[in-house]
Amino acid sequence: MAENEALDIVVLAGGISHERDVSLRTGRRVADGLQSLGHRVTVLEPDGALLGYLRESRPDVVWPALHGSSGEDGALRALLELAGVPFVGSTTDAARLAWSKPAAKTVVARAGVSTPASVTLPKETFRELGANSVLDTVLAAFEVPLVVKPAHGGSAQGVTIVTVAGELPRAMVDAYTYADVALIERKVEGVEVSVAVLDTGDGPVALPPVEIEPLEGAYTFDARYNAGETRFYVPARLEPEVLHAVCAAATAAHSALGLRHLSRVDLIVDADGVPWFLEANVLPGLTETSIMPQAIAASGRDLGDVYATLAAAAIADA
Ligand SMILES: Nc1ncnc2c1ncn2[C@@H]1O[C@H](COP(=O)(O)OP(=O)(O)O)[C@@H](O)[C@H]1O
Ligand SMILES: [Mg+2]
Repeated sequence: MAENEALDIVVLAGGISHERDVSLRTGRRVADGLQSLGHRVTVLEPDGALLGYLRESRPDVVWPALHGSSGEDGALRALLELAGVPFVGSTTDAARLAWSKPAAKTVVARAGVSTPASVTLPKETFRELGANSVLDTVLAAFEVPLVVKPAHGGSAQGVTIVTVAGELPRAMVDAYTYADVALIERKVEGVEVSVAVLDTGDGPVALPPVEIEPLEGAYTFDARYNAGETRFYVPARLEPEVLHAVCAAATAAHSALGLRHLSRVDLIVDADGVPWFLEANVLPGLTETSIMPQAIAASGRDLGDVYATLAAAAIADA
């Protein structure tokens, strides 16, 4: 394929996940960036007509801008693989691994990256063993503050920071609204950073880490998608050697999980400069307030160029 050949690209956005609106905004941005370089872009919702359409029209590549379930859990990717359509981002197996926060933590910890101590509890455990006895056991082993979160999902939905033990039951109920399995994790005090990773053939490259400072104290759904509610610093205000350790942790996590093309790794850096892995996202948000576009800009790259490079990498890898 010639370097500047116009490609037929299908951007998938929307879907039925809890992050539908975020996905529509991500998809619009990706489409704009690709169109600015002359590519022919069709933005589609995943629906009953999609797979037939892809089989018929055979686009050069699909850009799945779908957050949450089906987009990030690997299901849609599996079908694209079966249909033989090249797509941007991680393969089915890697996406499924990263989608499960407990599984991802285990794999990344084995690669030598610190991740906060946690316990993973399916909803049924409470029914079987009784909520009080389960929570008593947890609270005997873990001290507050804790973070309770659904085992998968994004945009901080269903995530609660528990500062007094009495709030734990309510936090569990909130997490179970989003997933049947929840994670209770030690809260790491420190600087929150998020590292975008690009990986188009020559190994993973960490972009400048973005420091997240929510003005209201927590990086909630609202703080994420309303401009002005969170302050970002790119690169993060950390010592050079700590920045280096953060980038190394992010690329190690990306590699350990077997991710491809792009990812974003969320970490907290404690007072000793140790980066703690929270999770890796196979489809980072690319909205106007999202982290990855800021990291791309800070690295001196053009957004459209990066999205097109990823599309070309997907075709090359297919
Ligand atoms: N162990 C933790 N220690 C401190 N803060 C945490 C921890 N886990 C999550 N958080 C906070 O909650 C937010 C959402 O958690 P995360 O695991 O990244 O889920 P999501 O997929 O919703 O982004 C993080 O951005 C961070 O602000
Ligand atoms: Mg996160």
